[in-house]
Amino acid sequence: MRSQKTRAFLRITSLILQIAIVSLALAGVAIAQRANKRSIEKQMFGKMPDGTAVDIYTLRNASGVEAKITNYGGIVVSLKVPDRNGKFDDVVLGYDNLDGYLKNNSPYMGALIGRYANRIAKGTFKLNGTEYHLAVNNGANHLHGGLKGFDKVVWTAAPLRVANGAALKLTYVSKDGEENYPGKLTATVIYTLTDANELRIDYSATTDKRTIVNLTSHSYFNLAGQGNGDILKHQLFINANRFTPTDAGAIPTGELRSVSGTPFDFMTATEIGARIEQDEQQLKFGNGYDHNFVLNKQGKRLTLAASVYELTTGRAMQVSTTEPGLQFYSGNFLDGSITGKEGKVYQRRYGFCLEAQHYPDSPNHPEFPSVVLNPGQRYTQTTIYKFSAK
Ligand code: GLA
Repeated sequence: MRSQKTRAFLRITSLILQIAIVSLALAGVAIAQRANKRSIEKQMFGKMPDGTAVDIYTLRNASGVEAKITNYGGIVVSLKVPDRNGKFDDVVLGYDNLDGYLKNNSPYMGALIGRYANRIAKGTFKLNGTEYHLAVNNGANHLHGGLKGFDKVVWTAAPLRVANGAALKLTYVSKDGEENYPGKLTATVIYTLTDANELRIDYSATTDKRTIVNLTSHSYFNLAGQGNGDILKHQLFINANRFTPTDAGAIPTGELRSVSGTPFDFMTATEIGARIEQDEQQLKFGNGYDHNFVLNKQGKRLTLAASVYELTTGRAMQVSTTEPGLQFYSGNFLDGSITGKEGKVYQRRYGFCLEAQHYPDSPNHPEFPSVVLNPGQRYTQTTIYKFSAK
């Protein structure tokens, strides 16, 4: 005969077990519901002049953050993230449709940049004793891959199944000699919109001949919402004790200069506009900030490169990367001549770019981290833009 105590004990134990099972089931349902909110949808974005169809993919994560990405130039067309009150806003500059990008010579808004992001002096570099001549499309220098860089080609796109969000894989095969770069370069870029509100970009590339490669992403951010004023009050931290000062044509002199005591010191978060008009030679050369920062790090680890905070909305963005450098561009050349999404006019400094990359003109600076890729090797880079609000 079981005692009364034992029976009571058994009843309580079975009750606890039942509660545990129900809670587990409910948690499972909640996880499944979150997962169900993840989605990726494909729509037609427009046609290239030669009739090639271009698509736009809408990626959504479990909390409703949404990114629209087209396979033309791998461009991030829009990115909607919540503010501190849960209000969603589009925080990147761009155009409403493909024609906007095709007809207006977009200043690389949201695009993937390759084969070589940033500048190469006089468009010239040497590899294996051969001198290569690239398009000179920025003053006397080569910029962002040339006349038809990776921002202006149609990539092959395919949705990818991932456990932590929605992902899109883009592939582009650049022919040997394209834009005068040596070697056939096969590039893939995976965009993942994670459930942690990150836009994660994983790049990789292989070649069949010794070549150079430096890929990046060129989104113009405005955490107050695209078209909602300039970015001068955004507070910026850049994890760099040094930057690469340039000549008047934005080519690094080779010096790694300490930021200390200069308007380039963002080791303490500072408003972008606080010192931008100072009478300082580097700011004059850049028309504001348009410089590569030497990130504080060792090796290729994924580390924090920068963070940005916008006071009125509470939106914050953290940038982490495996790259050694970060180009901070304060949108100095925007001048009101672009009417972007929803009829918004982009005036000077209405967006800022944080482009994770190798240093500009590295092929001509053997002392800089190398951008050479050999057959049999794989180039990789990962950069994460993480959004939050406080
Ligand atoms: C870059 C360059 C800038 C400018 C923009 C596009 O990031 O560094 O000088 O050319 O692209 O306008």
